[in-house]
Amino acid sequence: MSTDPSPAAYREPPVFRIGVLGRGTVGSAFAELVVEHADRIQRITGLRPELSGVLSRSSGDFSQILEASDLIVELIGGIEPARGYVLQAMRAGRHVVTANKQLLSQYGDELFTAAGESGVQLRFEGSVAGAVPVIRVLQESLAGARIDRVHGIVNGTTNFILSEMARLRITFDQALAEAQRLGYAEADPTDDVDGRDAAAKMAILARLAFGAPVHLDQVRYDGIRQITPDDMEYARELGLGLKLIGTAERIGEALSVRVHPAFLYPGHPLASVNGPFNAVTVESAAITEITMSGPGAGGPQTATAVLGDVVSAMIPPASPPEEMVELPIVSDIVSAFYLHLEVADEPGVLALVAQVLSTHGVSVKSVVQKGMSEQARLVMVTHPVLESRFFRATDEISRLDALRAPPRSIRVIEEEF
Ligand SMILES: NC(=O)c1ccc[n+]([C@@H]2O[C@H](COP(=O)([O-])OP(=O)(O)OC[C@H]3O[C@@H](n4cnc5c(N)ncnc54)[C@H](OP(=O)(O)O)[C@@H]3O)[C@@H](O)[C@H]2O)c1
Repeated sequence: MSTDPSPAAYREPPVFRIGVLGRGTVGSAFAELVVEHADRIQRITGLRPELSGVLSRSSGDFSQILEASDLIVELIGGIEPARGYVLQAMRAGRHVVTANKQLLSQYGDELFTAAGESGVQLRFEGSVAGAVPVIRVLQESLAGARIDRVHGIVNGTTNFILSEMARLRITFDQALAEAQRLGYAEADPTDDVDGRDAAAKMAILARLAFGAPVHLDQVRYDGIRQITPDDMEYARELGLGLKLIGTAERIGEALSVRVHPAFLYPGHPLASVNGPFNAVTVESAAITEITMSGPGAGGPQTATAVLGDVVSAMIPPASPPEEMVELPIVSDIVSAFYLHLEVADEPGVLALVAQVLSTHGVSVKSVVQKGMSEQARLVMVTHPVLESRFFRATDEISRLDALRAPPRSIRVIEEEF
């Protein structure tokens, strides 16, 4: 009997080639992570991840990178050329991972159709709430639950600003300057502070939660520029905290998706989320409520989510995406409100305001009267009411002679868990 003394021939593991578009904050952190975790990813997937090329404005060639890759990671941001590259990659049979919320919230239908037609995966965990794995939880872990509502603090910049305004009793402009100094806000913070960034993320979450093709244009949004230290002060007296809240919910057989500042009672799971953090609460009869929170942005944090998607894409087979069902979007919903009125300091004003509110079916839950003469204020919280009724009432109140400034209102989320 002959024995072969030579050791088993060593075979290189098969390689999985990753092309990266963008070498900015997230792109460069991602490239470093791939190298750092290559051994571990090889143990998990049986494939050795390798970077096949990195594209920036000044270096790399997209066609060459595409040709040399099994998967494309898009970290350029914005619409073009990101959209063209992503479509081209999927049509060439490459999986795509992206963190681009603007692209997904505006061209989701086109992108998911292209992925389905080409039989490739399109993954996007990094597009919402950075390192917090909300996409995977909605898509996979909660696939067996009928989701009724998603609430989210999905913009870290505005959460930081509101937290600082409450903590230090400073103005919006002062808190924004601090956020910019610490790198939590960009030089042009418009998309963040006006709520558009959060709206894009809520469109993505609504698509997943309800299996409906929600577009950014269908998301109503308000930002936080108009919030004053006064609002914070009175809210504190009423036991409320202020957040920029994204909501996606079923209303009958329709949906409402919106972003606006909202007051929360202390028992709400999002009330304690402070600073640049993100958090998402998912509600369903089957699970009651699940809240996930953590860092919502940052290069290494977002790159971690992107790499998680790459690892998932390396482990086939991909399941075909669910059929989307078109659902109507509701614009007039029921909400409680905080109402702040600067009024003339004279008898009968409260009665007059109460009369107008009652005519429109708005009932008041609590009221605080503050100050004297030029400083006189009426601050109240209403019971839930159809928004259109409330705004008709405030419209009428704004025309009262006793009003010294336009009424200010902010929605209040009543639920506590
Ligand atoms: N930063 C975060 O914390 C964060 C968090 C969550 C999600 N995201 C998302 O991640 C993506 C990337 O964000 P980022 O902060 O890393 O952006 P970034 O720092 O501005 O980097 C963008 C990169 O894309 C490259 N690029 C821009 N236009 C290009 C073009 N026409 N052709 C080729 N390359 C181009 C830039 O090239 P040059 O280097 O030559 O300028 C740069 O390397 C965005 O979709 C963003 O929304 C970011």
